[in-house]
Formats: sequence, structure tokens, C-alpha cells
Amino acid sequence: MQSQLKRVVYVSKKTDASDTTLRDIIAYSQKNNPEEGVTGCLLSGSNSFLQLLEGPADFIDTLYSKISKDNRHENVITLCEEKIDERLFLSWSMKLAPFENMEWSKEDFNSGNFLNITSEEALNVFVRLNEYTRK
Ligand SMILES: Cc1cc2nc3c(=O)[nH]c(=O)nc-3n(C[C@H](O)[C@H](O)[C@H](O)COP(=O)(O)O)c2cc1C
Repeated sequence: MQSQLKRVVYVSKKTDASDTTLRDIIAYSQKNNPEEGVTGCLLSGSNSFLQLLEGPADFIDTLYSKISKDNRHENVITLCEEKIDERLFLSWSMKLAPFENMEWSKEDFNSGNFLNITSEEALNVFVRLNEYTRK
């Protein structure tokens, strides 16, 4: 039997905006996530993250708790936390996408104005991103 799936979306502020840190996070995630059945997408702005995580509920809980305590970012705000039947990102262990051409301006994203977005708006960003990447 397949275990219950869960999706989490959050925003956070980077504490370290270096490319090396970002590469480390992505490399670790792409190695670790497939072992646990986690998929998702990480949007990276110059000083912010927006991440979607999907996978078995119990593992997502453990992972999200680790991620929230990670000192490479701060002000982690949960936008969406829900049980799901189907994943949005089936084939990405952790897709890295730059924050571009989204509904907020880059300035808004980088200044942290996006921190007020609703969970629906945040999810829409990923739905659209998923559509582009399928084309
Ligand atoms: C923005 C951000 C996104 C992250 N995404 C993941 C992820 O998708 N998968 C993962 O295993 N670790 C991710 N991490 C790293 C975790 O916070 C943690 O360092 C990692 O799971 C190793 O934890 P452990 O050594 O205690 O097992 C992320 C960290 C940050 C800052």
C-alpha cells in the first residue's frame, strides 16, 4: 500500500546568498530525496527561498523539521501544509529554478514583499512552473 502523501510549501530568507551554499543544498537534496521518495522544487532569489516539498507524510514531517532549523536560512514561514493524492513534481528530486518571470517582480521577491503571499498564490507559481517545464 502506498503511504499517505503530503505537500509543504514555505518561504524563507537566506542567511548566506553564496552560490556554493545553494549548490551544496541542491547536491545534498538530489542525493538524499530519491532515497526517501521526496520530490519538489526550490526557487532561489537573491536573498530568499520558496520551496515545495512532496513525499510520504512521515518523512516530509521529519525533513521539514530539519530544514526549518537549518541555519542557511531564517524566518521560515509555512504557506501550505496538506495531505495530497497526487504530486505536482513527479520527476524532480529537487528542481532548482531561478526566481524569474513570476507574478511578483524580482524586486518584490528580493525585498521580501512576497512573504505576504497566500498559499494559493504560492502553489500557483509551482503549477505554472511545472507546466513550462513539461513543454
Ligand atoms: C532552503 C533549503 C532547502 C533544503 N532542502 C532539502 C531537501 O529537499 N532535502 C534534504 O534532504 N535536505 C534539504 N535541506 C538540507 C536540510 O536542512 C539538512 O541539512 C539535511 O537534510 C541534512 O540533515 P542531517 O544531516 O541532519 O540528516 C535544505 C536546506 C535548506 C536551507
